[in-house]
Amino acid sequence: MQAISIRNIIKDFRAGDENLRVLHGISTAIDAGELTMLVGPSGCGKTTLLSIITGILTPTSGEVDVLGERITAMRGRAKVEFRRRMLGFIFQQYHLLPALTAAENAAVTLLAAGESFTCAMDKSRALLAHLGLEAHSEKLPRQLSGGQQQRVAIARALVHAPRVIVCDEPTAALDAQAGLQVMQMLREAALQPDRAVLVVTHDSRIYSYADRIITMNDGAIISDERTAHA
Ligand SMILES: Nc1ncnc2c1ncn2[C@@H]1O[C@H](COP(=O)(O)OP(=O)(O)OP(=O)(O)O)[C@@H](O)[C@H]1O
Ligand SMILES: [Mg+2]
Repeated sequence: MQAISIRNIIKDFRAGDENLRVLHGISTAIDAGELTMLVGPSGCGKTTLLSIITGILTPTSGEVDVLGERITAMRGRAKVEFRRRMLGFIFQQYHLLPALTAAENAAVTLLAAGESFTCAMDKSRALLAHLGLEAHSEKLPRQLSGGQQQRVAIARALVHAPRVIVCDEPTAALDAQAGLQVMQMLREAALQPDRAVLVVTHDSRIYSYADRIITMNDGAIISDERTAHA
């Protein structure tokens, strides 16, 4: 099943009087049931493409469908609702709320969707335990290591069981061991047939977790390969 369909995406940024073309007509599709990595050198347009897929940025031209819905045509509240229900985000910076405990941070997605506090906290604590953070769920972010904070951010992204999970450099701030743990989690999530996981990275240590690797350079896709274990 196609989770994300990307057709002819062009993105220009204005730089003073000039137009900077950052994406030169990208077309591809991301399938459910697998983990796709998007790799390429710094500045090639990975985050820009991810931002368009998730509706944070509007493309200059082209279309993106997420789970059959045209996200590039959505506006306002409808877009916010769609993103909240269907998408999970994991960023390089964890963006945890400093005054909330780990369990409260991970529950935020559910609370925003209107779930009761007790129910949201139960689900959040269960997921944190699954991520090896049982002993840390009542701590504040500043009492946690970088890898632990990133796992809380992952719990927050997964707790509402989104169909599409999008990650921008999820392991960049982590040591090797924590990075591999994070990828293990994302692989588990991706193996469900109705889930798609898209990971932007230039961390070659984690390439072996991909089913498919799409390589970009200078705003275009230059290769698209399935990996051996896929
Ligand atoms: N808001 C903006 N205005 C102008 N130019 C931008 C803007 N955002 C990104 N760019 C430019 O677009 C290009 C692609 O940026 P992007 O952040 O997508 O790269 P990236 O592949 O994610 O790089 P990295 O691996 O360093 O995160 C860069 O040349 C960047 O300077
Ligand atoms: Mg980037």
